[in-house]
Amino acid sequence: MKGKTVILTGAPGGIGRCIALELAKQGAHIIAHGRSADKVAPLVDEIKKAGGSAEAVGFELDSIKAVREAARGLREKHVKLDVLINNAAIWNGTRQVSADGFEKTWAVNVLAPFILTEELLEPLKAARGRVVNLSSNEHYLGRVNWDDLQFEKGYAARYAYRRSKLTLTMLTNELAAREGGITANSLHPGVSGTGLFRNFPKFIQFWTWLLMRTPEGCAAPIIRLASASDVEGTTGKFFRRFNIRRPHRLARDMDACKRMRDVVAKHVG
Ligand SMILES: NC(=O)c1ccc[n+]([C@@H]2O[C@H](COP(=O)([O-])OP(=O)(O)OC[C@H]3O[C@@H](n4cnc5c(N)ncnc54)[C@H](OP(=O)(O)O)[C@@H]3O)[C@@H](O)[C@H]2O)c1
Repeated sequence: MKGKTVILTGAPGGIGRCIALELAKQGAHIIAHGRSADKVAPLVDEIKKAGGSAEAVGFELDSIKAVREAARGLREKHVKLDVLINNAAIWNGTRQVSADGFEKTWAVNVLAPFILTEELLEPLKAARGRVVNLSSNEHYLGRVNWDDLQFEKGYAARYAYRRSKLTLTMLTNELAAREGGITANSLHPGVSGTGLFRNFPKFIQFWTWLLMRTPEGCAAPIIRLASASDVEGTTGKFFRRFNIRRPHRLARDMDACKRMRDVVAKHVG
């Protein structure tokens, strides 16, 4: 990864931190994103102290304006970007609405990665780059209600999360079909007791922590998609950790994927 630049959202904790440390160790320059630059600063310092290269960027992912402005700033600064890892996501216990009027799971897990990817397409294409989107096995349980994408009726955290991951998988496949100059894949990284579970009951958090993989273990298949030569050129696939799997029916239906892309593009304006 020497000489390559990686943008990683949700870098300060959980799986993101492990991805950042390992890709930096492999020689990449890491643009580490968090809610604020201060929140990512300790990670950036850690990378630099170990002899790596990193910079911090801070912005809220639930704001369309903030994400767009940050992406444009990055595009101006970096003519070439080798890897974009859309890692950040939320599992939101109660239905909340962003300042833009979108249900927050939809805003953070779908709209933000969509904007970042679209705004950074040129530098990614200049590097024949890779887009790696964090999906989940939960996407298989996702359903799309085209008339109520943001759960104005009958919100439950798991429904919103599943739909967001299904949507991101659909958008990944649409992007891969549309853009030949880059690769775009999505994956389930494994399950680990990270901050994602902070809204879960304490006893579930305990069992998750006890039984599941380490964040490092979940980071490994993501690092592979971002950097390994054996997946160079592989695009439009869903991986269950290290293996290609058939995704949800809707993510294989290109008409549905294109329709979803149009809907999401309309949402972000
Ligand atoms: N952990 C699992 O078992 C598992 C399983 C399948 C898929 N995944 C996927 O793997 C990815 C990484 O998850 P993780 O387990 O590492 O979760 P995590 O520890 O909760 O990390 C998520 C990151 O996203 C950031 N983030 C959330 N909302 C944000 C916002 N509005 N603005 C800016 N940053 C925001 C968080 O920042 P704060 O800490 O400041 O909130 C955090 O750094 C996610 O896409 C998740 O869906 C995880």
